[in-house]
Amino acid sequence: MKVATIGGGTFGEMHIRALTQRALRGDIDFVGLVDTNPEVCKTRRDIYGIETYNDINALLNTTKPQAVTVATPDHLHQEVVVECLGKGIHVLVEKPMDTTVKGCQEMVAAANASECLLQVDFMKRNDLYHLHLKQTVDTDGLGRIAYGYAWMEDKIEVPRDWLPAWASHSSPAWFVGVHYFDLIRWLVGHNAIAVSATGVKDKLLSIGIDTYDSIQSKIVFPNGVSFVVDTAWHLPDGNEAIVNQGIKVVGSDGWLTVDSQDRGTRGCVRQGPSSEARMNTPNLGFFKEVENPAGLNHYSGYAVDSIEGFVDNALGLVQGSHQLSDLDGNYPSGIDGLEVTKIAVGVHESVESEGALIMLDEL
Ligand SMILES: NC(=O)c1ccc[n+]([C@@H]2O[C@H](COP(=O)([O-])OP(=O)(O)OC[C@H]3O[C@@H](n4cnc5c(N)ncnc54)[C@H](O)[C@@H]3O)[C@@H](O)[C@H]2O)c1
Repeated sequence: MKVATIGGGTFGEMHIRALTQRALRGDIDFVGLVDTNPEVCKTRRDIYGIETYNDINALLNTTKPQAVTVATPDHLHQEVVVECLGKGIHVLVEKPMDTTVKGCQEMVAAANASECLLQVDFMKRNDLYHLHLKQTVDTDGLGRIAYGYAWMEDKIEVPRDWLPAWASHSSPAWFVGVHYFDLIRWLVGHNAIAVSATGVKDKLLSIGIDTYDSIQSKIVFPNGVSFVVDTAWHLPDGNEAIVNQGIKVVGSDGWLTVDSQDRGTRGCVRQGPSSEARMNTPNLGFFKEVENPAGLNHYSGYAVDSIEGFVDNALGLVQGSHQLSDLDGNYPSGIDGLEVTKIAVGVHESVESEGALIMLDEL
């Protein structure tokens, strides 16, 4: 199966790593990257020895991929995804699927029309601890879910230094919140019905980035079930991890917390031979690069697993070993992406109206 990547920035590099590693197994060809920034193309070409293109049509017409992965900025997914689906290409799109409900609906319609796979990279479903949480919920380990709490808070480095071009088009709810909105909806097994939220614009605004520092939301499901989700991306540079994150779920007969920050490795270490030791908590479950005995880099972690999962799904469709309907419920679909975007759109509407309750069926 011929696979390409669209958008090769910070996270697109993760796609390139996962796909070029997978290509070594021989069941896919990584046929190229398209990025509108020539500098990004050059860097990725130099490191990974891949073909690169500045124009999507050049990539699609020249390489004719059967599957693509999309890692353009949040608000620029829709156009390329609809174009690829329209050409009969299976698509993995980064979270959030789109920042509008209409955009997501158009993507779902395009996937239905072409009978192609549309998968969203809600990779937190692949985290081993979240798989354990899901299995515990599904085997009645907690009884009926009553309520829960999740938190995901990035350092200010992320909007300020990683995303200077588009942080103001995003927010902590869009950039990190959607991970947990999806996870919670997946655990509860039901669409959310309403949301309310409040947010603060302060620190980022003071450095010229017009977006929220933090958004705290309450997501309501049927039968009184609700989750509170804290999101932020203004934590000080001195924070010992790039992100604080975790989730607690309380049921009628039990509870379970997954603290995704301290995963058994935490200490005060030097980052280089001449630097001073600093507190550090690496998230090795997310991504780890090691050199294998053959001298090749080996990439592992749930960020890689979720891209591998897409490749397996698409490859089976291309080879005819399964149908799209066989995959139903077993991957983060376009419908899941749409429902998560509804939650996030409702959250922003509520923030703008000082915490008003927003009914999601009205969006
Ligand atoms: N799953 C995760 O944990 C995770 C983590 C980080 C980012 N992301 C998501 O990945 C996406 C990309 O984020 P990023 O941090 O890599 O951003 P980035 O700004 O580093 O990279 C985006 C790249 O897309 C390119 N681009 C823009 N428009 C394009 C177009 N029309 N065609 C081709 N290339 C185009 C830009 O030149 C840039 O190189 C976002 O949706 C983000 O939310 C996901």
